[in-house]
Amino acid sequence: MEKLLETAGFLKERGVEEIDFGLVLGSGLGELAEEIEEAIIIPYQEIPHFPIATVVGHTGQLIYGKLSGRSVLAMQGRFHYYEGYQMERIVYPIRVMKVLGCHSLIVTNAAGGINKDYQPGDLMLITDQVNCMGSNPLIGINIEELGPRFPDMSQAYDMEYQQKMKELAKKLGIPLKEGIYLAFSGPAYETPAEIQMARILGADAVGMSTVPEVIAAKHAGMKVLGISCITNLAAGLQQNLNHEEVVDTTQRVKTIFSHLIKKALMIL
Ligand code: HPA
Repeated sequence: MEKLLETAGFLKERGVEEIDFGLVLGSGLGELAEEIEEAIIIPYQEIPHFPIATVVGHTGQLIYGKLSGRSVLAMQGRFHYYEGYQMERIVYPIRVMKVLGCHSLIVTNAAGGINKDYQPGDLMLITDQVNCMGSNPLIGINIEELGPRFPDMSQAYDMEYQQKMKELAKKLGIPLKEGIYLAFSGPAYETPAEIQMARILGADAVGMSTVPEVIAAKHAGMKVLGISCITNLAAGLQQNLNHEEVVDTTQRVKTIFSHLIKKALMIL
């Protein structure tokens, strides 16, 4: 908690004030942050106690400012379990947002499609999640100031946000799938057998992120909206998988993705 307060204090000194929405921008989806107005850009490496991002396609900076008239603090680049960070480190920025007074979080990611109705380029409203990462960011001493030892995950993704997003997408004519996101640790993509397992477990999409951040956000009492960009069909459903395809697909849909998020900021 001391470290969190220190980090929050630093960000306030750098000009971060009230935050309506925290924004976590996934692989290839970070360009939205470039549309933030009156932007204050703070590279992760300058922020006390922050981890540092390493993956290609992730810049690694916080951008604070106005988007669709709302105050947002965007993470351009997130931290992944497969990079070797402890779970606690991955969720550190989310907790900083909370300490800064942010009550709402929008998480985005690139994901593989498991549901047979999904095509690369689809956007999916996340309705729930399955944690297959083999760990949990809340393991360890509970930070009572943030939330309870045993937080309720019955509504990990806020129902009201989900409802509003469905109505918004319909109004905008943007096809929006809905489904359950399952996360493995990665970094290897899944085997077809693992994808078969994930399907049996109820998953519609698979990835290597988001789950820890959402657990930490819920723990801290934040409302969460999640959007996946389906960048490829999951293993066994297409020829083979590679990161280039993931990036290519996010590039292809980034305009519509950004449009949806910007409109969402106006109505949530
Ligand atoms: N699996 C895991 N993570 C991913 C995938 C996938 O197929 N696509 C994008 N991120």
